[in-house]
Amino acid sequence: MPSRPQPREAIRKMAPYTPPVGNRRGKLRLDFNENTVGCSPRVIEAIRCAATRGFVATYPQYEQARQKVGEFLGVSSAQVMFGDGTDELINSVVQTYVDPGDEVLMPWPTFRMFQFYTEVVSGVARRIDYRLPGLTFPLEELLAAIGPRTRLIAIASPNNPTGDALTLGGIETVLQAADNRAVLIDEAYFEFHGVTALDLLPRYPNLFVSRTFSKAYGMAGLRVGCLVSNAENIAQVRKGQSPYSVNSLAVECVMAAIDDQAYVADYVAQALEARALLCATLEELGVAFQPSRANFVLLHLGSRADAVCAALRENGILLRSQTRSIAGAVRVTAGTLEQTVKFLAAFQEVLGR
Ligand SMILES: Cc1ncc(COP(=O)(O)O)c(C=O)c1O
Repeated sequence: MPSRPQPREAIRKMAPYTPPVGNRRGKLRLDFNENTVGCSPRVIEAIRCAATRGFVATYPQYEQARQKVGEFLGVSSAQVMFGDGTDELINSVVQTYVDPGDEVLMPWPTFRMFQFYTEVVSGVARRIDYRLPGLTFPLEELLAAIGPRTRLIAIASPNNPTGDALTLGGIETVLQAADNRAVLIDEAYFEFHGVTALDLLPRYPNLFVSRTFSKAYGMAGLRVGCLVSNAENIAQVRKGQSPYSVNSLAVECVMAAIDDQAYVADYVAQALEARALLCATLEELGVAFQPSRANFVLLHLGSRADAVCAALRENGILLRSQTRSIAGAVRVTAGTLEQTVKFLAAFQEVLGR
């Protein structure tokens, strides 16, 4: 009898990544930093209009959308590529630059996919710990860690789950020190922060910036993000990507979403107001938290962290425990004011305050 094929060593050694996504429908989703209201109605309209038999039978075309997103971001279409979420784009960048044994530097804790895709290619994820006790960005330690095997430095700005953002000056310092290594600035939460590294592109040939339609734009289920760099880098990264990884409905939705900036601006304003209320109430309650530049806040709940998440889940409110990377930490998304009021009421009840 034939035998079972053995996975590569890197895959054998990896723990499966299992996000707790089971049964989220109908609950108050404060666990994944999504748009808690939904996408622009124009996106739904775009799906309705596009959903014909002929459209679905045809392979996707990206050029018009690349042009549109390029214009929106102030770069040429040759500087833009789409991916099946930022996740795929991180994978593409890693595959383009990281050989087995090469190092990818990342402040830690951060978005798990940086480590995940590094491990898939048998690279070494070097985690540079945030400084305790306040969880401050470990800039000097990161710079000191850049070495001969470093091929990529991945920084989320704002960072998930800490909520802070390295300053543009700090990003420039990293780009200078990185020399010919790739530097990926993941701007998944850009819309809530308003500060971008895109303007640094003309001066730094080693810079990549990623954006997503999963957060402020409310399109996480469609799975689409974009990567921006100079045209030469993008041409190289595209070589290793499946030619049709983003489906044609998602492409239509990107164009509709970009055209409805008022919708995004309105949602961002609501989320920022909700975040302010959340932080003010946490202060009143004496609950420690990290200041945030994104649409979520990291709370320090000590030994009660997991029990609080479980009790709120019982009440139909989902939070994301971060206790595996930071003792006692729980991340909560700031949605609308109304949703935040609902969360705070249930949270206070669970805390017994
Ligand atoms: C920093 C960061 N980057 C990227 C993503 C995922 O983006 P996408 O849905 O585009 O794959 C997340 C989602 O949690 C994130 O926190």
